[in-house]
Amino acid sequence: MKLTIADIARQAGVSKATVSRVLNKRAEGVGAETRARIQKIVAETGFQPSAMARCLATGQSCSVGLIIPDIANPFFAQLVRGAEAVLNRDGYSLFLCNSDRSIEKESDYIRVLIEKGVDGVILNSAGSALDTQVEMLEAKGIPVVLLDRVIKRRESRFGVFVDNQGGAREAASCLYAQPDCRLLFLNGPAELSQSVERLAGVEEAVRELGIPAQRLQVINSDFTPEGGYHAISALLDQAGKTAALPFNAIFAANDLMAIGAARALHQRGIRVPDEVELIGFDDIEFAAMLEPPLSTIAQPAQEMGANSAELLLRLIAGQKPRTKTLVMTPRLVLRGTTRARAVAAEHKHHIQEQ
Ligand code: RIB
Repeated sequence: MKLTIADIARQAGVSKATVSRVLNKRAEGVGAETRARIQKIVAETGFQPSAMARCLATGQSCSVGLIIPDIANPFFAQLVRGAEAVLNRDGYSLFLCNSDRSIEKESDYIRVLIEKGVDGVILNSAGSALDTQVEMLEAKGIPVVLLDRVIKRRESRFGVFVDNQGGAREAASCLYAQPDCRLLFLNGPAELSQSVERLAGVEEAVRELGIPAQRLQVINSDFTPEGGYHAISALLDQAGKTAALPFNAIFAANDLMAIGAARALHQRGIRVPDEVELIGFDDIEFAAMLEPPLSTIAQPAQEMGANSAELLLRLIAGQKPRTKTLVMTPRLVLRGTTRARAVAAEHKHHIQEQ
């Protein structure tokens, strides 16, 4: 028969509440000898408190909401995978919500998560301009950790991000290392914090390298493969078949748009990397499987997800982490869509994959 918390309490000669406090690491006031006796019985019997029992004892739901903007994008799946592993380790359930890049849907999900009584929320927001949706959670005292994308008043909130500007600067510098580089920066939606920060990185590289303005063209798309495909097709069709290509290098602000761009180039017989070099951003699992394999700026997505979950669990436990935000470092990964090049010393941490 399945052991219950009452059986442990009886064997240890204490109340169920005392056993629960020891199990939930809230054993302030429980004597060391009693704590050791309870832990010994739990270990010897292999007792596993049901998550529900633990939650009932502590009045928490032991559940967390995680909202992402686009479940179809493998980058977000990597974030979720990292967060889920940490939450599962600590016995928390995860409500995964896909806002489908809609702020309205994101706000609706936040209301649902409040009704479900989650203990905390990890938010990868569909937009960067608002924070009213987060204020709903804060008004209820529900801890929030931002992940990957910032929102208004980011500095006053907890979050885990990547150095978008540094990664974009590195990609652009790498492409401009080719003396005649005419770069097209295929950016995401202009209003998103990612796009703002990545554009700043490209412009920083242009300034640092003294690149003439006419050798940088910037367009915005929507972070999807279709968006990348149509954006590049339109530029190439506009240039016509005879004229010189309007660019000889593309830096796409995410891998999905890079994949769409590669298809548009391939359909027109334009060779990558001989005629046009291509770098993406994210390093989703398919990036290395393309032919030629995609050079990209790799984000530590699983680690970002895991770090956001660790941070949220500390907030749920009532701790006050001194560091509000963690900004992780992306990495230039050179594969087959860029030509071999003598890489400058400052890119020493890039990796060259065969
Ligand atoms: O691929 C989607 C993009 O938006 C990624 O670069 C990630 O940063 C997300 O916010």
